[in-house]
Amino acid sequence: MSRSAELAALIRERAGDKPPAFGMILGSGLGHLAAKVEGVAIPYSDLPGFPHAGVSGHVPQLVIGQLEGTRVAVFGGRSHYYESGRADAMRLPLEVLAELGCDRLILTNAAGSLRSDIPPGALMLLSDHIAFAGTNPLIGEATDARFVPMTDAHDVDMRAGLRAAAEAEGVELPEGVYCWFSGPSFETPAEIRAARTLGADAVGMSTVPEIILSRFLGLRCAAISVITNMGAGLSDEAISHDHTEAMAPLGAAKLEAVLRRFLRD
Ligand code: HPA
Repeated sequence: MSRSAELAALIRERAGDKPPAFGMILGSGLGHLAAKVEGVAIPYSDLPGFPHAGVSGHVPQLVIGQLEGTRVAVFGGRSHYYESGRADAMRLPLEVLAELGCDRLILTNAAGSLRSDIPPGALMLLSDHIAFAGTNPLIGEATDARFVPMTDAHDVDMRAGLRAAAEAEGVELPEGVYCWFSGPSFETPAEIRAARTLGADAVGMSTVPEIILSRFLGLRCAAISVITNMGAGLSDEAISHDHTEAMAPLGAAKLEAVLRRFLRD
């Protein structure tokens, strides 16, 4: 049995057989939603090979259960490329999700905005992304399945559903392009200007490798950024991880309303 099949069997034993309708990966400062799922929490430490998710603001556990009447599998912690130098750090959790029979994934992250009309506290739905970190989570994958088309990486139907949910909740949900920087240092003002020139609307250090892996595994996905700051050089505020964590709750309430409505409808 493959490692993902073994872990899926262990998870089914604790949380039941029914496939989750959605997987969710929660970003920095956005993990509180996991606590609202009625179900079973499995610490990553019980799941050999799962990342230790060492970034503050992330709770390293998988929660499987009901949220708004929908069965979900929520990853409270993610591992980032900058923690290990491995862009495929989330491959095993995503393989397990697919193994559980789940075929849709919602990702959230904290991000810096490049657009004055999408200020801190706002949400942005990813319409597309730019993988600017200079690596790819499928490097080393030896099968031809590695040549994954990315044309429709951000699922059109899921995005329409999320936009409808936002409208029903009275939450603005503009769409934009997310540019993945490796981190862990924040960008320079020149890098932010470069990203803007390249067509990005927001910058961040996560999500893109998970989207590539998801498409590889046949999962459909959509991602929402919570804007915690303007990109470096675009405002006077100091950028820091503490600031990201302090600002994430501003958008988190809106994000929760949108996600709950989306799951309910
Ligand atoms: N840059 C990269 N990642 C981030 C930022 C940023 O400005 N804000 C929150 N995550």
